[in-house]
Order: sequence, then C-alpha cells, then structure tokens
Amino acid sequence: MIIEIDDISKVYEVGTQEVHALRGVSMKVEDNEYLAIMGPSGSGKSTLMNVLGCLDTPSSGSYRFVNELVSEMNDDQLAEIRNREIGFVFQTFNLLPRATALHNVELPMIYNGTPSTKRKSLAKEALEKVGLSDRMDHRPSELSGGQRQRVAIARSLVNNPKIILADEPTGNLDTKTGEEIMEIFEELHDQGNTIILVTHEEYIAEHTNRIVRLRDGRIERDEATD
Ligand SMILES: Nc1ncnc2c1ncn2[C@@H]1O[C@H](COP(=O)(O)OP(=O)(O)OP(=O)(O)O)[C@@H](O)[C@H]1O
Ligand SMILES: [Mg+2]
Repeated sequence: MIIEIDDISKVYEVGTQEVHALRGVSMKVEDNEYLAIMGPSGSGKSTLMNVLGCLDTPSSGSYRFVNELVSEMNDDQLAEIRNREIGFVFQTFNLLPRATALHNVELPMIYNGTPSTKRKSLAKEALEKVGLSDRMDHRPSELSGGQRQRVAIARSLVNNPKIILADEPTGNLDTKTGEEIMEIFEELHDQGNTIILVTHEEYIAEHTNRIVRLRDGRIERDEATD
C-alpha cells in the first residue's frame, strides 16, 4: 500500500465563508497503480492532489503514506516526505525560465544535497528517458510545450519518488502532444512507477487503469477502466 486516506475533509476559510472542498474522501492506492482523478471544475481534484502530495494538510481524517501517518506531521516532516517520496508535474510546467533543461532537472537534487557530478549524470539520464538528450542546454522558452512538460516529468523522476502526481499534465497541450506525454507516463508505469493524474479529458483518463470521479468534494465513482 502506498496511499491510504480515510474520511478526509478539507475546509477552506475565506473571510467569514467556509468552503467544503473535500467531504469525507477515502481511498487506497497500491504500488504500481496508474489512476486518473476526474470531476467537474471545483469538485476538489486539486485539493485532493495537494493533500496526497503533502502540499497541504486535511482539516480532518487520516492519511497514511507507506505506513507513515502523514496527517499528524508538522511542516518540516511533510517537506521531507514531499522531497524524498513524491514527484510533481503541473499543468503550467513550473520550470525556472532562465535555467537550462539540465539545470531544471537537477534542482530537486540540489535541494537534497546530491553532489554535483552525480546530479548531472542522474539529470542527463532522466532527460534521456523522456527523449530529450538533444535538448539539455535549451531554456524553457527554447522548447515546445510538449518538450517543456517532458523536462518537468524528468524533474519529477530524479529523486526516484514512490509516486508521481500530475495535475492536468496535458491541460496546456494540443491533443497530439498530450498523447505523446501520455505515452511517457505509460512507459513509466510499465517500469514500475505509481502515477496519479488529474484530467478533464476522457481520452486522457482512458490511458490509465482506474478512474476516481469526484463531485462536490465526494467520490462519486471509483472503477477500473477496461
Ligand atoms: N486556497 C483556497 N482557498 C479557498 N478556497 C479554495 C482554495 N482552493 C480551492 N478552493 C475551493 O475549493 C473547491 C475545490 O477546488 P479545487 O481547486 O480542488 O477544484 P478542482 O476540482 O481542482 O477544479 P478545476 O477543475 O477547476 O481545477 C472550489 O470551490 C474552490 O473554490
Ligand atoms: Mg484543479
């Protein structure tokens, strides 16, 4: 078991208003699962991803990540789990604009103190994995959207995370480029990685093995794809 959340709720307080973004969500994710989270805008997908990714803490409920009780952790402990165990991919790529592809991929290893020579060779390896060995010295503005997302995927891989979380990774890409990105996720899944992604598109979700559908902060359906 990688993830086990039980009766998670998340309430945002904005002024005097309370927003119930998650209302009692429970799910388990096993090693090497590949699943999509779907649902209408505002249904709680990103909130759930932020909780799963230890970027945010739930208001109530328990969260176990590989048997560690994450929901009881303080900010420092959460940051450590995040850096060590979780790879993130975002819709807007979140790359450093002035840094080369290679340097962007090195970043997570700079934060965890990997020596420079090892860092460079691991970053190169990750970029090769996503088919970008010939673009290592390009800056984000010198890459296509699909290539930028591949850099972000390479960056998410370098610390060898237990799980990869991707919030609408194809949201800013055209259909063809989106399919290319999904092929990379498919390969990573075949190699043993555990992947959770959020998408609005059924054809994207169909690449995965399981679809969890949220509505109004609750799981409406959770089923295997065929
Ligand atoms: N930081 C925040 N502060 C207050 N309310 C928030 C915050 N983040 C999200 N919300 C609210 O929580 C609800 C769920 O938001 P969330 O971002 O999880 O939705 P989503 O399913 O990811 O939507 P989308 O498909 O548009 O990305 C929404 O009603 C939103 O307005
Ligand atoms: Mg969202």
